[in-house]
Amino acid sequence: MDPRRIIIKEVGPRDGLQNEPDFVATEDKIAWINQLSRSGLSYIEITSFVHPKWIPALADAVEVAAGIERVPGVTYAALVPNAKGLERALSVHVDEVSIFLSASETHNQKNINKSIADTYPILQETARAALAAGKSVRGYVSTVFGCPYEGAVSVDEVIRVTERLLDMGVSEVSLGDTIGVAHPRQVRDVLEILLKRFPAERLALHFHDTRGMGMANVLVALEMGISTFDSALGGLGGCPYAPGASGNLATDDLLYLLDGMGMDTGVEPDKLVTAARFLQEKMGRRFPSHRMQICE
Ligand code: HMG
Ligand code: MG
Repeated sequence: MDPRRIIIKEVGPRDGLQNEPDFVATEDKIAWINQLSRSGLSYIEITSFVHPKWIPALADAVEVAAGIERVPGVTYAALVPNAKGLERALSVHVDEVSIFLSASETHNQKNINKSIADTYPILQETARAALAAGKSVRGYVSTVFGCPYEGAVSVDEVIRVTERLLDMGVSEVSLGDTIGVAHPRQVRDVLEILLKRFPAERLALHFHDTRGMGMANVLVALEMGISTFDSALGGLGGCPYAPGASGNLATDDLLYLLDGMGMDTGVEPDKLVTAARFLQEKMGRRFPSHRMQICE
């Protein structure tokens, strides 16, 4: 039997860097993404075309997207909140556009300055225009497992938002544990409900590892048939509009798990470590992933 194919979506250049207080030089971001492109990853979220006032760390989105080398077989994606962001994204080249909103009202308001109801038409128009321009569109739902402002989030809200995104033509919905509160039992309970409504192929999981539950949560999701996971090399990351959000699940640690279980990702671990070392040096600190703790 062929080993099961798992897709790792590397979000380090976007989610990993968006909250960094020290600006990473554009040329270093470009060099890092070029290394990631040659590690066997098939998907890299390279930046975000949000308002630079809100996310200054990624103010150079256009320069980054214009500057990277494109490796055949790699999908280069970017986060886009609205028509203005799409216009900037289309001025350079991206293969896929990721639209996003939250399952909880307060996080949505803090993150994108609008109610959920007012966000739908904006995303709808962004998705329509992106599809018309020949791009594929991905959707993110944040605060699926808990909200930093409202606490528990009902699965019904997650279903409602997921359905709306799929109706807009997104190819996949990534379910975000924005502040890393999910635990394996909750992941099982939520997925059990969602998988009655949506096929596993249309769902991805996006874990933050704030409480060290990320890898256990991946295992449960794998068992339930999910094959796509978002992660950030070195465990970088966090959402500036989610107090307490810490790093994403680390790609290097995730790869160790998947390789060990005989699953096929196509990613070469040594090349990932080289890429992580490169950026660690530029940023002047060791990354939090387990893998990077045991590096010279
Ligand atoms: P706003 O201020 O409400 O925007 O921001 P607006 O539509 O009222 O426009 C105000 C001005 O901003 C206008 O300029 C627009 O042109 C300009 P003016 O006419 O006044 O000169 N503008 C823009 N400029 C550049 N790029 C744009 C853009 N849009 C408007 N795209 C907005 C609304 C959504 C733009 C803002 O709230 C924003 O940028 N938010 C981004 C927040 C963010 O990036 N959060 C982190 C990512 S989400 C996340 O991390 C979660 C995730 O990882 C999953 C998980 O973990 O759960 C995905
Ligand atoms: Mg995130």
